[in-house]
Amino acid sequence: MAQTIAVLSQKGGTGKTTAVRTLADVLRRCGLRVLAVDLDPQGNLSDYFDVAPEAAPTIAEVLTGRADLEDAIHDDVVPAALSLAEAELQLAGKMGRELILKRALKKVRDAYDVILVDCPPALGLLTVNGLVAADYALISAEAQHFALQGVVQVLGMLEIANELHNDDLVWLGVVLNIADMRTTHSRDTYATLKQEYGEKVFETTIRASIAYAESAERGVSILDYRPDLGADYLALTDELLRRLGPDFAPGRRKLKRLSAPAAD
Ligand SMILES: Nc1ncnc2c1ncn2[C@@H]1O[C@H](COP(=O)(O)OP(=O)(O)OP(=O)(O)O)[C@@H](O)[C@H]1O
Ligand SMILES: [Mg+2]
Repeated sequence: MAQTIAVLSQKGGTGKTTAVRTLADVLRRCGLRVLAVDLDPQGNLSDYFDVAPEAAPTIAEVLTGRADLEDAIHDDVVPAALSLAEAELQLAGKMGRELILKRALKKVRDAYDVILVDCPPALGLLTVNGLVAADYALISAEAQHFALQGVVQVLGMLEIANELHNDDLVWLGVVLNIADMRTTHSRDTYATLKQEYGEKVFETTIRASIAYAESAERGVSILDYRPDLGADYLALTDELLRRLGPDFAPGRRKLKRLSAPAAD
């Protein structure tokens, strides 16, 4: 049965969607079956995966009860579009509105090893749905002064999700994203997070590079566009699989083989 990981942050532009896309790429290359769910009305993840803009149904129809999740899977992606913003409003007054994604995913969990959920940059109902549906929460924090504050707010949200709906939600950790570790600013941010949250902070930081925007524009994974930078995501995936436990050991072994040429 799939392990579901919600990727979130309190603020926008911390590299969540890039992380979901790239982690999905790496995990698939490790032989794992991965479903990527776009929970953001911006639809960035759907664009990254080149889902046709007219693809239907989307996550909006699933959340409003007009489609089954199975039918909203297009090449192992459940896309989102602006219609999701309206769907979120429609949900606001409904009973059990926080549980819809969890229920919808139940039917497909056997078909995947990992389900990655890309949350919008707001701690609203969509993100709550992502958290309630998830086994794990992965926080992306941009290497900036307010990173710590952002993490504190997201952790508050995890606590609420746990208390109200999902006792089993585990905080997988926080990754420092879009980081330039040559600057004292990024190093200080990392040190602060480490001091506060210890082992929850991933050893791997994702380096900042314009190559990410370029690779997105060209529709090429960073793993192929700039394998030297993609190595950060291979290292992050290794830590992530370790945290997911022994069931994922075969995936880690495959990952080691993927990483080997890059180390030459
Ligand atoms: N490691 C990186 N270095 C530099 N730029 C990056 C990196 N990762 C992502 N980016 C770029 O930063 C921008 C925001 O990234 P992304 O869309 O992944 O963030 P996000 O947290 O999902 O944003 P939002 O909160 O709007 O959903 C994009 O232009 C992306 O190409
Ligand atoms: Mg995003």
